[in-house]
Amino acid sequence: MLGGKRILLVIGGGIAAYKALELIRLFRKAGAAVTTVLTRAGAEFVTPLSVSALAGEKVYTDLFDLTDEAEMGHIQLSRSADLIVVAPATADLLAKMAQGRADDLASTLLLATDTAVLAAPAMNVRMWGHPATRRNLAQVQADGVRLVGPDEGEMACGEYGPGRMAEPVAILAAAEAMLSQGPLSGKTVLVTSGPTHEPIDPVRYIANRSSGAQGTALAVALRDLGARVVFVTGPAEVPPPTGVDVIRVETARQMLEAVQAALPVDAAVMAAAVADWRVANAAGSKLKKDGSGRAPALEFAENPDILATVAQMATGRPRLVVGFAAETDDVVAHAVAKRARKRCDWIVANDVSPGTGIMGGTENAVVLITADGQEAWPRMAKDEVARRLAQRIAEALA
Ligand code: CTP
Repeated sequence: MLGGKRILLVIGGGIAAYKALELIRLFRKAGAAVTTVLTRAGAEFVTPLSVSALAGEKVYTDLFDLTDEAEMGHIQLSRSADLIVVAPATADLLAKMAQGRADDLASTLLLATDTAVLAAPAMNVRMWGHPATRRNLAQVQADGVRLVGPDEGEMACGEYGPGRMAEPVAILAAAEAMLSQGPLSGKTVLVTSGPTHEPIDPVRYIANRSSGAQGTALAVALRDLGARVVFVTGPAEVPPPTGVDVIRVETARQMLEAVQAALPVDAAVMAAAVADWRVANAAGSKLKKDGSGRAPALEFAENPDILATVAQMATGRPRLVVGFAAETDDVVAHAVAKRARKRCDWIVANDVSPGTGIMGGTENAVVLITADGQEAWPRMAKDEVARRLAQRIAEALA
């Protein structure tokens, strides 16, 4: 998938630098040539010798190596690549990128480049959550840098949480997606997926049976056609795909906020099974039995309709807004009415009655409803539904 491409890999100074070695191997196996830049801090974690041995090329470590123009200058170094990958992108490197500093080779070439940049952040969980890092991330993303990861989990420092560098296979998938020449390259598509959880009290919530399978399959299919995918997901059973920007949320209101923050996009596909209601009187502490035998009375409030909100935006509306309609009877009639009511462009209607095995299952039978009419697709794997739909989206955005 990366045949003939040149990747410039900047290895920052973090414990995750060892994973950059595996990344070099994967890039080369995928057909790419890899030029490497090791920061001074990076060299504390991996040796220049192991980097250059895996890359099969000299590793660049120092800005002043390059001032002798018999060598490749830093401007040229930064521009001869098809993609720059920063892995691990430490908090320090991200801060330099956000500020446009150029005090070593890595930061200088990141400032001098006009090539697309993919960064794989890796840092301690508190550093990741610090407002300064949040600001720097927002800035580099606004400057066009794409992020992959970080993952959540056990960290080398013994703490737990987000901050662990994405796995090399995920970074490879993100790089492939960015370099893909597919029909959706250059386009951004937002996908919502999974259920939402609506708290009753701090330990209980209301949920639904959505596994996130269809939304995940869609994100994969869109990614494989070259789209940049922003994947806003509730707590789903199916893990999110690699090579997409994952934003995890819990409630419908958080999902709406995340969706609005991700705009503008070229298309939005709302595959999430959003809870229609939340508990209006959710308790701040655990509800206790009071001994009277009386159950607590839950009051409900309607959640915002994310699909309708996006479909009815006066300015900045995505060119294509696609909804799903989960119905148990009169599927098509309800879906047609839903399309009109929410004012989305397309509705993908499916029958989720228990007998169909669709909700939580691997297959789907859908009817695509557009302004031009309706098309019933035969029952097929959710992956196949996703590929067909992604293809149609590509045609619509062409
Ligand atoms: N949806 C949404 N926000 C909500 C509810 C639904 O974005 N608060 C989206 C879903 O992601 C889906 C579409 O709207 O794309 C339809 O969802 P569905 O549950 O079938 O419809 P409802 O709005 O719940 O309508 P009804 O109660 O009439 O079935």
